[in-house]
Amino acid sequence: MCSHSFYGYRFLLALTSNFPFKTGCMNTNTKKLYIKTWGCQMNEYDSRRMADVLAPLGYTAVDTPDNADMVILNTCHIREKATEKVFSDLGRIKTNKEEKAARGEKMLVAVAGCVAQAEGEFIAKRAPFVDMVFGPQTYHLLPEMVAKAVGQRVINTEFTTESKFDNLPAENGATGASAFLSIQEGCDKFCTFCVVPYTRGAEYSRDVAGIVAEAKRMADMGTKDITLLGQNVNAWHGPNGETLGDLLYILNDIAGIEQLRYMTSHPRDMHDRLYDAHRDLPKVMPYLHLPVQSGSDAVLKAMNRKHTAAEFIDTVARLKSVRPDIAFSSDFIVGFPGETEAQFEETLALIHTIGFAASYSFKYSSRPGTPAAQMGGLVREEVKTERLARLQELLKIQHTQFNTNCIGQTLNVLFDGKGNKDGQLYGRTPYNQAIHAQASERMLGQVVPVNITGANAIALTGIVATSESVLAA
Ligand code: SAH
Ligand code: SF4
Ligand code: F3S
Repeated sequence: MCSHSFYGYRFLLALTSNFPFKTGCMNTNTKKLYIKTWGCQMNEYDSRRMADVLAPLGYTAVDTPDNADMVILNTCHIREKATEKVFSDLGRIKTNKEEKAARGEKMLVAVAGCVAQAEGEFIAKRAPFVDMVFGPQTYHLLPEMVAKAVGQRVINTEFTTESKFDNLPAENGATGASAFLSIQEGCDKFCTFCVVPYTRGAEYSRDVAGIVAEAKRMADMGTKDITLLGQNVNAWHGPNGETLGDLLYILNDIAGIEQLRYMTSHPRDMHDRLYDAHRDLPKVMPYLHLPVQSGSDAVLKAMNRKHTAAEFIDTVARLKSVRPDIAFSSDFIVGFPGETEAQFEETLALIHTIGFAASYSFKYSSRPGTPAAQMGGLVREEVKTERLARLQELLKIQHTQFNTNCIGQTLNVLFDGKGNKDGQLYGRTPYNQAIHAQASERMLGQVVPVNITGANAIALTGIVATSESVLAA
């Protein structure tokens, strides 16, 4: 798993990268498992958990599909390009499988994730060499599906009634200094552009005991920073009306966990207790990824976002009033059907009003089966390209400004990976900025004060402020 990246960087990279994770040593009896992950952090988390489920069957993760005994493509359906990439990868996997077959060996090929859920039958038809197609809610059933797939094809895109979380084994192996923990899955919001409610199903909240047990296990394995995951993480709720804020108070008490983050939040689900948590809890990081998509009320209405631009701005202001240093990132879509130039400019105005530390912006991509795919007023590709460029230009100035303002400050950095250069470590600041600093390897996995010396639009550089002797003491 790629451990040296922050959210957006990771999100964008994830569309093209492999996330191999190695667990333990290999012996000749071990079966090789290759998992490739696209899409969001939920998919990254799920890929790890699939590896956990398959470990007792003798599968060990490897970082190439060439000679693997099982290949799982964990896919994303969010935009058209993400889906296309799966089919181009399948072409290469087919060759690997044929080469193996020529040597008299078998390779199981599986397509999992959101493309599998949305287009399972189509994949099965178009790629007859695929042995298994299964959706995100079925991963706890992998052992049965693998047993079946030895003799016949398995297509499973059911939304099972039992929760996969309650039926998955515990994490197998170290989770790293910063780790993801899924607490919520699915979405009931039905934004008109989005496939997630169809690929992940209805909103589901994991129970508190399971979440706390997993967080404690992570702490025991050296994890310091937990990012709680959910498609609508702040829609998480407990059986007695508890909300995400209440959960953060509980997790804040776990010894060893020093930093708590959560994503992705929906502006409609900002409950009072969440503001309290940002005000009161030192472990809750002063950073929030809060997608707005557009600054135009007409477009927000057509998107079925269920909030206005002014309500979004009020939410940001209220958070700043309880935690003045809080930084924001957001998602934006340009060229939604019917978006006029004036409406696009309202998005630019909202960006000017708020000022974002980071952002992820996309051209609208029509997704089959979503209400927006039936809407008229399609915005021409050149117009989308031009609007995206203008939007990104403005956001880049803001990101650079935000990062540059940190020069001269001392920020606590959790180092969770080695940098590209010798003697360099990689980490994240409380504001989720990526940072490289000259630091001793002994600081890996620790939160260390760092003097910020340089900045650009996407990352910081710094010098460790604490002498090693102090750290070692
Ligand atoms: N649950 C989150 C994120 C969902 S997907 C939320 O509610 O915001 C991540 C981002 O992908 C979205 O925020 C949106 O900006 C983008 N996205 C989703 N569907 C899209 C589409 N059809 N075209 C372009 N971007 C899309
Ligand atoms: Fe998609 Fe909207 Fe749900 Fe986010 S809230 S996952 S954008 S439908
Ligand atoms: Fe993609 Fe599914 Fe995540 S569509 S963004 S992998 S929920």
